Amino acid sequence: MTAPGRPGHRSAAVLEAVVTLTRASGAYDVVSLAVPPDPAWERCRPGQFVVVPGELSRGEPLPTLLWVAGVSVDPVHGTTVDVVLAASDGQRLREGRAQRLLGPLGRGFGLPAHPVPVLVAGHEAGSVPLRWLVALLRERGCEVHLVLSADDPDRHLEVGPLRRQASTVMLTEGDRFATTVGGRLDELDGVGVVYATGSRDQVRDVAAAARDRGRASRVAALDLQEPVLCGTGLCGQCDLRVVVDGQTRRLRACLEGPVLPGEWVADAAR
Ligand code: FES
Repeated sequence: MTAPGRPGHRSAAVLEAVVTLTRASGAYDVVSLAVPPDPAWERCRPGQFVVVPGELSRGEPLPTLLWVAGVSVDPVHGTTVDVVLAASDGQRLREGRAQRLLGPLGRGFGLPAHPVPVLVAGHEAGSVPLRWLVALLRERGCEVHLVLSADDPDRHLEVGPLRRQASTVMLTEGDRFATTVGGRLDELDGVGVVYATGSRDQVRDVAAAARDRGRASRVAALDLQEPVLCGTGLCGQCDLRVVVDGQTRRLRACLEGPVLPGEWVADAAR
């Protein structure tokens, strides 16, 4: 497996973006932003994120962290970045709005060096990076199996497009997320890597399910639904305990992750 995508913090700077398109997708709004060209966007991978800084003058005091849902780099039309918000927040990024952004940040998902069957699992809004990830995995020649969970069926994200890309799609609920992943690993032959997004507990349980079956996993160990995250290493809210080579240590997920080897989080105490 190739190394995870490179962290983006060293080169990321606040930039001015412009909202060019907002489209509804069930309980979510997919928002496209035109951003200045930068090689960092060309290197950007699923699992990286952006920070929308708080702006008191707009009644938005806290920063908002958003997964990058996709990047399009076009020499004619410029660089466009897609993010996803809950529909209730969608008005925040209306078409035509100029918006300061910080990003792309973090370490994204690496792809297998060779085509192998993979299992990709995500919960609700944590699934934002998955459509892009699945497309890259398919380009790599991987057979993709999906487990998507949501506590409310309306909170599944882009199931239709994902069904067209994946060999199988299993829908479940949050409290059965990891057991469903484990069940699929028992049913499927030759899954080489498990990719997971969701809450910290969910990805830890998925990582343990993969580890118990001798499968490698990569998990996004940052839940952007948690409140009061800064995304820049200052607040400490994303810290988690990991076990690396038998040693337990604390890790700042927004800086050292968010994508981590599942083995690091599978055995960490809650
Ligand atoms: S989100 Fe604030 S330090 Fe990581």
